[in-house]
Amino acid sequence: MENEKGENSSTFKMGNSAQERSLPYVPDCYVVPPSCEPRDALDSNSEVVPTIDVSRLRGAVDERRGVIQELSFACQHFGFFQIVNHGINQNILDDALAVANNFFELPAKEKKKFMTNDVYAPVRYSTSLKDGLDKIQFWRIFLKHYAHPLHRWIHLWPENPPEYREKMGKFCEDVRKLSLEILGAITESLGLGRDYLSSRMNENGMQVMAVNCYPPCPDPETALGLPPHSDYSCITILLQNMTGLEILDPMGHGGSGRWVLVPEVKGVLKVHIGDHVEVLSNGLYKSVIHKVTLNEKKTRISLASLHSLGMDEKMSVPNQLVNDENPVRYRESSFNDFLDFLVSNDISQGDRFIDTFIIKD
Ligand code: OGA
Ligand code: NI
Repeated sequence: MENEKGENSSTFKMGNSAQERSLPYVPDCYVVPPSCEPRDALDSNSEVVPTIDVSRLRGAVDERRGVIQELSFACQHFGFFQIVNHGINQNILDDALAVANNFFELPAKEKKKFMTNDVYAPVRYSTSLKDGLDKIQFWRIFLKHYAHPLHRWIHLWPENPPEYREKMGKFCEDVRKLSLEILGAITESLGLGRDYLSSRMNENGMQVMAVNCYPPCPDPETALGLPPHSDYSCITILLQNMTGLEILDPMGHGGSGRWVLVPEVKGVLKVHIGDHVEVLSNGLYKSVIHKVTLNEKKTRISLASLHSLGMDEKMSVPNQLVNDENPVRYRESSFNDFLDFLVSNDISQGDRFIDTFIIKD
């Protein structure tokens, strides 16, 4: 199918995508249908998006209890919150964003070493979602790599830029520690105790880093960086260099939902509740639906660190959360089950992993 500009609109393959080549127009295959809209995001509004001071988790018993209540509210209403006073040094955050940006600025030859369509690959450079296999393409370039345990994977990461492994490695280690602390608070808030997940994740838990780059888009109203989706993690911790992330507030507009642009404040990290914490909570906590919008001027970089159980370990609803009023609402599933799902489904069309294991009444 040739369009008027002589491009074959169904073959923007990775390495040759519109966003990698900085095309001055948006090809048809990037134009999102109205179902991915509306573009009616509220301006950044810190009153809408909860912010939690996690240093208080390390404080006195009463203080910790207070934070856990805030966290539980945020998980029930949004599946999303921002964290401050998390203890990760600003230099470590800045350095990780910088090496990510430097990676994407390397010559194509260097990046193509990691190019693959294999969703099971421990290091993978690609574009869009599934590179040309999806019905719609997205204005995104990404590098994904496993990060825990670090010594098992770091030698597979890019050698260029030369500081990539050291700076990204440090960020990954610190974010991973933080993720266990937050998961401890989440399981405690569900009455499961602090160690319910962390004890299972200490050795075998997965950490997948999605290093995302969204180049300036010539027509940001017609394309998206990422379509609405939820993450297949327990939680995702996200760092961004500028705004672009929008979350769905399911209660907004009188229950029909509304998009909220997440504000960017230096040093603040974002936490997404993923599908597997929705399962863990038997539906009390909701995985957040989010998308990425584009801008015409600046390259947006985000680092999404996805934390989950081991590759083949199944997440299931704990017996403690099941009774006559609350039957089991989800079948069990693993991270690997998600990868299998990814191969045969089209997330750009709104297919959701979690829908495949919800038990219908
Ligand atoms: C993701 C994601 C958001 C962003 O990688 O799953 O949702 O801001 N990223 O890049
Ligand atoms: Ni996501």
